[in-house]
Amino acid sequence: MVLKRIMILITTAALLSSCSAVTSSTNPTAGGTQSPTQAPTQAASPSPAETPPTTMAGTGLPLLHGVNLGNMLEAPNEGDWGFKVQMEWFKAIKDAGFDHVRIPVCFSAHAAATAPYTIDPAFLQRVDEVVGWALEQNLGVVLDMHNNTEYCNDPNSQRQRLYGIWTELAEHYRDMPQSVVFEPLNEPNGNADLAWNKDAAALIAIVRKTNPDRWIIVDGSHWANLPSITDLKLPAGEKHLIATVHMYEPLKFTHQGAEWLQGSDAWMGTKWEGTSKDKQDVDDLLRIAALMGKKLGVPIYMGEFGAYNKADYESRLRWTDYVARQAEAQGFGWAYWEFCAGFGVYDSVAKKYDPKLLTALIPLK
Ligand code: BGC
Repeated sequence: MVLKRIMILITTAALLSSCSAVTSSTNPTAGGTQSPTQAPTQAASPSPAETPPTTMAGTGLPLLHGVNLGNMLEAPNEGDWGFKVQMEWFKAIKDAGFDHVRIPVCFSAHAAATAPYTIDPAFLQRVDEVVGWALEQNLGVVLDMHNNTEYCNDPNSQRQRLYGIWTELAEHYRDMPQSVVFEPLNEPNGNADLAWNKDAAALIAIVRKTNPDRWIIVDGSHWANLPSITDLKLPAGEKHLIATVHMYEPLKFTHQGAEWLQGSDAWMGTKWEGTSKDKQDVDDLLRIAALMGKKLGVPIYMGEFGAYNKADYESRLRWTDYVARQAEAQGFGWAYWEFCAGFGVYDSVAKKYDPKLLTALIPLK
């Protein structure tokens, strides 16, 4: 922990010295003064000067407040992890005040092993259907390649396949509205860490052949973690790029009892009280992302954040509210992880939101 803290301080200092502008692009409407130790309260009506933005800063895109349709299309087969995307959810998502969805999709589980790595047409049609449902509700879409573990384990043998899948996807979605944004790879990690900056540049070039103006969201290596975004490099002179971070810190709180994380049972009972140190730790990390955005000259999108439902409920509300407000204060768009599975804000059986968690995400006006 101490080491991590020192790392954050060093990283911040390094970034400060390399950025000419160090003030954060503050969203005046972010309401960052709300005490995270209280349940979120009704926000005062904004004065005309404080009219809330309707698009994510620097993009003109509806990427302010989103939700991840997690544990659905990024399973090996949709439904394997308990959920299939339902049409009716998109109206519920829109009505709740979200402006976009992030759709994690495991394309690599549905593409041929050999060139040209064709995606199963029936699967692609299903993704089209889901994207269409979002667009019908005027929701933005982040189309995210998720769980390409083959590439992360062995980038050298899987690189051409990753490129081939994106060649097909970019061609397939080239006529989509600008509110459909591509995310070429969720959370590069493992053996892909060192290969990633070069492969990201190659993927951007592939997309540009058919989508010259499409917005592209690029993850940093090391699982898009903070502060690893400092390793991200983007090709010079490229427009319409966004860098993304995933915010799950402190991990011992957000991932306590997570079945997929060995040792996380020992973290059970970890609370997030919202002490000044707790808040400072969050602020430090988000500030690194903000500084990195300035250094790279791109907007920042916090494409995942959330706390698992095994964590103390009040702590989850406090943390979610605090992280969302601070991200907004930095001008980041965000997408909560996730809609209705283990971190979920929506009960797909009762067909209703958890009202307190929803309010922590989108405070009442
Ligand atoms: C992973 C999910 C996981 C979530 C939180 C996502 O990127 O794909 O499986 O539940 O992060 O750890």
